[in-house]
Formats: sequence, C-alpha cells, structure tokens
Amino acid sequence: MTDQDVSPRLESPDSAGRDGTVPDRYVRPHGVHPDLASPAYRSTGRRAPSQPLVPLAQRLTEITGPLYGEDRVTESDADLTRQHDGEPLGQRIVVHGRVLDSDGRPVSNTLVEVWQANAAGRYRHVVDNWPAPLDPNFSGGGRVVTGPDGSYRFTTIQPGAYPWGNHPNAWRPAHIHFSLFGRAFTQRLVTQMYFPGDPLLAYDPIYQSVPEQARERLVSTFDWDATQPDWALGFRFDIVLRGAAATPTEEPHDD
Ligand SMILES: [Fe+2]
Repeated sequence: MTDQDVSPRLESPDSAGRDGTVPDRYVRPHGVHPDLASPAYRSTGRRAPSQPLVPLAQRLTEITGPLYGEDRVTESDADLTRQHDGEPLGQRIVVHGRVLDSDGRPVSNTLVEVWQANAAGRYRHVVDNWPAPLDPNFSGGGRVVTGPDGSYRFTTIQPGAYPWGNHPNAWRPAHIHFSLFGRAFTQRLVTQMYFPGDPLLAYDPIYQSVPEQARERLVSTFDWDATQPDWALGFRFDIVLRGAAATPTEEPHDD
C-alpha cells in the first residue's frame, strides 16, 4: 500500500484566511480561535511560530496509527472521584455534553480526555509547587469515549483557581482542560472549559486571547437537570469541532 495522502478536510471550504501559505484545509476559521501569539499571554511569545507554517500532509501512517484501544478506557476513568481509596475533598460535580461537527451532527467514538487542578487549585505535577495542598485522593485526570449520540460525561471535583507567573498577581480562573482525538493521535484538539460567572475570566489573558464573539463557547452552563440530588452539581459543555460555531482550541501547553 502506498503512503498516499488520505487527509480528511480539517476545515470547511469557506474557511477564511486564504493567503497562499497553507492549503485551505489547514486554515483555521477567522474569529474563532486565539492567535498563536497573544502578547498579554506571555509564554505564547516563546512558542508561537515566527516563520510561515509549513504544511505537513497527513499520510496513511498518520491516519491509521497509532490508535488507542477502546477496551483500555474503563468506566472508572470517567469518574475522577473514585480513582483512589478515599474520596477527594471539594465540591462534587458532573460535567457532560456532546461533541458535534460543523453541521451539528454527533461525533461518536471519540476519545475525550480531561485534566485539572484539585479543589485547592493545585495540580499533581512536578512543576506545580505553589503552597496549596495536594489531595492524596485526587489525580486530576480522566477519559471517556463519546457514545452514539456524541455524548460524554465525567464526575469530578470543582477545580480551584491558581496563581501563575504570567504577570504580578496573575490567577487562572477555575478550568478543566479538554483534549479530543480524531481517528489518530495526529488529529488532536485541545481546549479549556470554564465555569459560569467566574470573576477571574475578565482578568485572564488566556481566556481574553480568544476572539470576543467566541469566548462564551468556552464557558460551561449550569445544568440543573444534570444535578444529582444529595450528590453533585451539574454543568454542560458542548464541543463543536469546526466551522464558524467551533469551540475555540489552542496549542497544547501546561498553563
Ligand atoms: Fe490549567
């Protein structure tokens, strides 16, 4: 079998920004995603490309493998409150939603991964050493595969805000990182989910780097119907993969 180009179209044909430097299918829609270089978000200055992008066509190798095995995703992976002997501290929440394509059709069988800080705003990560307590019963990572209707569901703990070194007295709003894989590991989208009414959103250079008309797509909605009596609050976060209504996405990073 030849290593022919079998790339799917990554964007709709009417995507904006045709400047001749990259094929249309690699062009992100205008006004949805943050610029790769956002001066107020300082670390983008070190990782944003300074040269024109060089498109690398996805060929058979990238499209067909490696693949995750669905059988490796267990039910407990979707419940971040049951990954240790005891229960983690904090407010228990359900986070659920659907993964949709640009036409609103459900995207099934997609691996959705999340990672987050604990209730005190601390990650279980070697470089996170600010003086907030770690929780021995909370790792902060989960994964689930979307169902036939594109739905996913996690049970977790409301994450806390945390300080970071972007500028003096910088605090990240509470958020959950999301990663979605397509048909192979080369097809990955990364974004962050926020919580409604968070006053820190107005001061966050990452959230503010997203075009204004698209920012609220990153804010979950409080979902009374998903709230479980005597157990957990509920939030809904739908993710649209592409098109004018796409959920803003970013380059993977640790902030
Ligand atoms: Fe974070």
